Amino acid sequence: MRLCFSALISMVVITHGQSLGTSARTFEIDYDHNCYRKDGQPFRYISGSIHYARIPRFYWKDRLLKMKMAGLDAIYTYVPWNFHEPKPGIYEFSGDHDIVSFLQLANEIGLLVILRAGPYICGEWDMGGLPAWLLAKESIVLRSSDTDYLHAVDNWMGVLLPKIQLLLYQNGGPVIAVQVENEYGSYFACDYNYLRHLLKLFRHHLGDEVVLFTTDGSGLPYVKCGTIQGLYTTVDFGPGTNVTDAFFVQRHSEPKGPLINSEFYTGWLDHWGERHSVVATERVVSTLNEILAHGANVNMYMFIGGTNFGYWNGANTPYEPQPTSYDYDAPLSEAGDLTEKYFAIREVIKKYKKIPEGPVPPTTPKYAYGEISMEKAKTVIEALDVLARYGAIKSVYPLTFDQMKQYFGFVLYRTTIPKNYTEPAPLSSLYDGIRDRAYVTVNGVLQGILERNKMHTINITGTEGAHLDLLVESMGRVNFGRFNNDFKGLLTNLTLNGDILANWTMYPLDIDSAIIGELLSKASALKTDNIPSPAFYKGSLAIPEGIPDLPQDTFIKFTGWTKGQIWINGFNLGRYWPARGPQVTLYVPVHILTTSQVNNITVLELEHSPCETGKCVVEFVDKPILNENPGYVKEELSFNKGSVL
Ligand SMILES: *[C@@H]1O[C@H](CO)[C@@H](O)[C@H](O)[C@H]1NC(C)=O
Ligand SMILES: *[C@@H]1O[C@H](CO)[C@@H](O)[C@H](O)[C@H]1NC(C)=O
Ligand SMILES: *[C@@H]1O[C@H](CO)[C@@H](O)[C@H](O)[C@H]1NC(C)=O
Ligand SMILES: *[C@@H]1O[C@H](CO)[C@@H](O)[C@H](O)[C@H]1NC(C)=O
Ligand SMILES: *[C@@H]1O[C@H](CO)[C@@H](O)[C@H](O)[C@H]1NC(C)=O
Ligand SMILES: *[C@@H]1O[C@H](CO)[C@@H](O)[C@H](O)[C@H]1NC(C)=O
Repeated sequence: MRLCFSALISMVVITHGQSLGTSARTFEIDYDHNCYRKDGQPFRYISGSIHYARIPRFYWKDRLLKMKMAGLDAIYTYVPWNFHEPKPGIYEFSGDHDIVSFLQLANEIGLLVILRAGPYICGEWDMGGLPAWLLAKESIVLRSSDTDYLHAVDNWMGVLLPKIQLLLYQNGGPVIAVQVENEYGSYFACDYNYLRHLLKLFRHHLGDEVVLFTTDGSGLPYVKCGTIQGLYTTVDFGPGTNVTDAFFVQRHSEPKGPLINSEFYTGWLDHWGERHSVVATERVVSTLNEILAHGANVNMYMFIGGTNFGYWNGANTPYEPQPTSYDYDAPLSEAGDLTEKYFAIREVIKKYKKIPEGPVPPTTPKYAYGEISMEKAKTVIEALDVLARYGAIKSVYPLTFDQMKQYFGFVLYRTTIPKNYTEPAPLSSLYDGIRDRAYVTVNGVLQGILERNKMHTINITGTEGAHLDLLVESMGRVNFGRFNNDFKGLLTNLTLNGDILANWTMYPLDIDSAIIGELLSKASALKTDNIPSPAFYKGSLAIPEGIPDLPQDTFIKFTGWTKGQIWINGFNLGRYWPARGPQVTLYVPVHILTTSQVNNITVLELEHSPCETGKCVVEFVDKPILNENPGYVKEELSFNKGSVL
């Protein structure tokens, strides 16, 4: 393992004789010396993960500079396919989606890139990066040699990889290695033909020179199904792991070549309703030090986690969605702040290499704009005409989101109550077919909530002919394991008092367009009442005058609010759910705020807002709160009280 470093010394001598004429940029594996070679020189990287899709473009440079100043040689980044191909053959590569500019920026800053190109990425990202439109074929076997799946993969890689080819190291770009698939050995399919297909496809577009590799858990069973000849095997493991044992697993598959930990965990992910994950700095730096002492290459996952803006979070099974913040307890916080973990890691890196001189870019200032009054604008049902701009779909039995080509967000399912139920009658999804949460109203009044794996039955009352509406929310598609063919909506029939409900009208909602188009503001607000029902609330934030350097980043806090989604000036900041926790504030990056006019805040509250009983405000604070204790029990109690209405 130390051969690479003894080679380093002898290389110094050799290169004296060779320094003329060897200007070609090369990057390759040196199997004889168990290391990489960059431009002919022994090389190992110390890298950190940053996901461009989780950081606003406005902040890419700031975050990359901080990574450079920590002493990193390289970054790892994922390419989420569904972020770039929202519909088959429709591509998004501009603005925050401009991966080419992101990679060029890394190059300008002097960071190499290890690109995790997919097609599957996991990453706590909706469906592990796979587009939900693949589910149009209901029997599709994702991540296998299913012909329809491969056809879609071929089309996508035919668009993505030619862009990457131009950015390969030997072509003057930063990309030194490209990962194929991700932790495939953890997936049930174990389909070597699929991996062989990907290998051929990547070679076809990227040529024979670039290092192609895989990443798997550091256990022999993972490496068995995750790797094939021709893709270099790397492993992942976190603090506290026996480093020798973990690399022994890589050596089982790669007897020679560089040791590589592609995901060394600096922190860990969160789920709604669970405690915020924290990993102690001492544990991180101690194992990092061991890995580096082994002469191994390492990528810290995450170096900065960022944010699941909009609807981009994924979920684990049994169904547990991840929150909006992907802070990860990483060395740079969600908002890019320098932490004590950052400086401790930098000290470790310093022991092994020279790190750049000069000041580290400072933490960006945050501002507490204070409380902002909110006002109820319209309920979802009142706004149906502007939200369901593509009209309604009728079907005797409920259709899934996927059958309606609605891939994110919300669909309103409507039927009528067939006869009078003056006594509470059970409304049931017997086969747990709610994906993922349904807010049930009768003639606009909230009756209760059905939730995947948690609540199959609620009691309702209502009279014959009354509207029975279920506003169904996708809370993020499963990103890991065999169940990531995660259909959304109502997957099974609903029964009322044992009878199957039929004759549904379904309204796929395009809430984001309605908010960007300010359609909600057109219709005047009805008389505000206190009847709980999913509803929009509006407020405006004027940036104070006379205070230097405003606007600044901030965090929005939802005291007394329950669960919903928030937009500022049409930018979808993500989901809030303080009633369940652990996250209770959302990060608001400065670039979405303006000083030239008031900033429009739109909140979609799905359950109960404080406006029903108390102070109707949201509050902008200067510190995040990501770790309030899970409020699951508390929430259930308060909901029971509310539902007696
Ligand atoms: C790691 O495991 C090996 C045996 O596989 C053992 O010899 C070694 O002591 C362990 N190292 C630590 C730090 O526990
Ligand atoms: C159902 O209830 C409504 C309103 O209370 C009443 O007018 C109607 O007659 C009832 N229908 C039946 C069949 O009992
Ligand atoms: C529905 O009401 C019945 C009868 O009042 C009661 O036994 C049952 O527990 C209730 N079910 C739920 C889910 O609240
Ligand atoms: C709903 O019930 C009908 C009638 O029993 C049945 O034909 C249909 O397959 C059911 N749909 C689902 C999704 O279970
Ligand atoms: C559904 O609608 C059709 C046509 O209006 C009607 O014949 C049928 O009885 C309805 N089914 C149910 C279960 O209400
Ligand atoms: C906020 O909404 C108002 C009224 O609809 C509109 O005139 C204004 O341009 C919006 N502000 C921003 C920053 O979009």
